[in-house]
Amino acid sequence: MQRFKNKVCIISGGASGIGAKTAEMFAEEGGKVLIGDVDEKNGKNQTEKITEKYGNGTAIFFYLDVSNPNDCEKAVKKAVHEFGCVNYLLNSAIKMAPGMLKELSLENWNTMITIGLTGTFLMTQATGRWMIDNNIPGSIVTMSSIGGQQPYGMSGAYSTVKAAVIMLAEHFGIEWASHKIRVNAICPGHTETPLTSYLKDSDIKKQRSEITPLLRVAQPIDIANGILFLFSEEADYITATTLEIDGGLSKTVMNHLPGRKWK
Ligand SMILES: NC(=O)c1ccc[n+]([C@@H]2O[C@H](COP(=O)([O-])OP(=O)(O)OC[C@H]3O[C@@H](n4cnc5c(N)ncnc54)[C@H](O)[C@@H]3O)[C@@H](O)[C@H]2O)c1
Repeated sequence: MQRFKNKVCIISGGASGIGAKTAEMFAEEGGKVLIGDVDEKNGKNQTEKITEKYGNGTAIFFYLDVSNPNDCEKAVKKAVHEFGCVNYLLNSAIKMAPGMLKELSLENWNTMITIGLTGTFLMTQATGRWMIDNNIPGSIVTMSSIGGQQPYGMSGAYSTVKAAVIMLAEHFGIEWASHKIRVNAICPGHTETPLTSYLKDSDIKKQRSEITPLLRVAQPIDIANGILFLFSEEADYITATTLEIDGGLSKTVMNHLPGRKWK
């Protein structure tokens, strides 16, 4: 499929994990991608990998700290300068600062909020402003998490951020619908990336697979498939909503009720 021939995508957090896989798959379908990340080494490696496979001019790396409004604006300008347009944005950047709320330092709280929430706001605003000023329709996807719908251990700040970005995507989606800019969120379940290095522990991976209705943890390709769907014309009537890609995990709470059998 070449759904994104000559289309342009910015991916924040594109140096690693879900963002990196999406960048690759976007280029495979004919698109051009700006990989924006604070991790220059992995960002440049990923850019090289893509250009080697899909040709010069298919990917560029740009140093982007999503918590810096100037960086966000410059990233959009860079994409337009290099590729002539911006059609899509994926907000994938995250920095973890876990901890129980009782002990969580203000510094760790601020790290989560500044990169996860404010960064998503700034990058979406910068991209959408350019699209609106230039009358370009587009699609923006923000990475939330099933952790944004369910509390879980050590993730009071993360879950709060991931809940907030769902509402942020809904707001942007409604505000910008008349400009034909669609904005949606994705809630992955446990996905094997550098972020979830604990899945390298085969016992944890096995146990997590067993509690997932589809009996496996996700791979980045599973999430990237959903992101590219939301970018694509097939999702033309989908905005201000959330797509869960979790193998059914978040719908299993009733499995824990004693006295009810599923089989
Ligand atoms: N992996 C999972 O199980 C999972 C589950 C649910 C949601 N998610 C979400 O999906 C997204 C991607 O997760 P991942 O697993 O690919 O993570 P990852 O750690 O592999 O990638 C995150 C990237 O964000 C970059 N980053 C950190 N701070 C940044 C900043 N200030 N500006 C720009 N880039 C910055 C990192 O350098 C890294 O390249 C995240 O938003 C995460 O919360 C992941």
